[in-house]
Amino acid sequence: MGIVQPHTAEALRRTASIYERVKSVIPPMEWAAFADDIDAIHRLKRERNAIILAHNYQTPEIYHGVADIAGDSLALAHEAAKADADVIVMAGVHFMAETAKLLNPSSKVLIPDMKAGCSLAESITAADVRLLRQRYPGVPIVTYVNTSAAVKAESDICCTSGNAKKIVESLGVPEVIMLPDEYLAQNVAKETHVKIIAWKGHCEVHERFTAADITLYRRQNPGIVVLAHPECPPEVVAVSDFAGSTARMTEWVETKKPKRVVLVTECSMSDNVAARNPDVEFVRPCQLCPHMKRITLKNIRHALETMTHEVTIPSDIAVPARRAVERMMAVG
Ligand code: 13P
Ligand code: SF4
Repeated sequence: MGIVQPHTAEALRRTASIYERVKSVIPPMEWAAFADDIDAIHRLKRERNAIILAHNYQTPEIYHGVADIAGDSLALAHEAAKADADVIVMAGVHFMAETAKLLNPSSKVLIPDMKAGCSLAESITAADVRLLRQRYPGVPIVTYVNTSAAVKAESDICCTSGNAKKIVESLGVPEVIMLPDEYLAQNVAKETHVKIIAWKGHCEVHERFTAADITLYRRQNPGIVVLAHPECPPEVVAVSDFAGSTARMTEWVETKKPKRVVLVTECSMSDNVAARNPDVEFVRPCQLCPHMKRITLKNIRHALETMTHEVTIPSDIAVPARRAVERMMAVG
């Protein structure tokens, strides 16, 4: 491991049990570079009465090293709602931090990098939603959580990839508007009798996968199981073995224990699930989410040291946006 500074040696000792969880995906040399920050973050969490919520696309040193809760968007929303902490650090993207703030207004919500955005959230504005309402009077608007609070505020109810079908059907109407992810809307439309009017937003990570990619994975890896995220184009989902949220994909691997699997989604997912499932072989076509990758151990540490960057939402937006998110949570 080369020359190790005395404070790093101390940090390595204190983080040794955490390293046990990730040693199959993080080499010891890399861990030595992470140990100081991980150790400091644990101390800062105690001092600040803070928790870290991490999305499944965070890198393993964050996901396994410092997160108190790791999960999909829906799980992070539920955990934020019930968190009893003075500070919530969102190791994820901006809309996730806003959702946490909506559901836990009395906690200070920090995001380590304000520029951690999302191509779906960028694809639609509150003014667009108002125009849709005028164009389709009386049709309920179901909004994916991957949107700004201002867009949620114009919506009737939110959904995530983990509950979209259930939310659409809970409304008991023949037709809904579902925005902004066109592919998620088309994938849900295939599974329900409810007619869905979609928007043209796409996830810049999942839209890159093609049906030809899946054919190639199967040809190169006979017997492989293909799990896809429903933000992928419908033709990709059609040739996959299963489609579901990041949490459902994880659950699938952990319960069915396939011999060999490919997760058609962001790169870090495979590392995080592989760390807990050493007996499963992961084939890893890598598509990075540049927004998720803005979050690092260094800026999480900085966020806790300086209590920045705080996510706030003006009350004229927060009140209606919270209503849309809470209606979703009430559906279950
Ligand atoms: P999940 O809710 O499935 O975790 O998805 C969030 C996301 O941003 C996927 O790109
Ligand atoms: Fe947004 Fe796609 Fe990144 Fe998820 S993976 S945060 S949907 S850009």
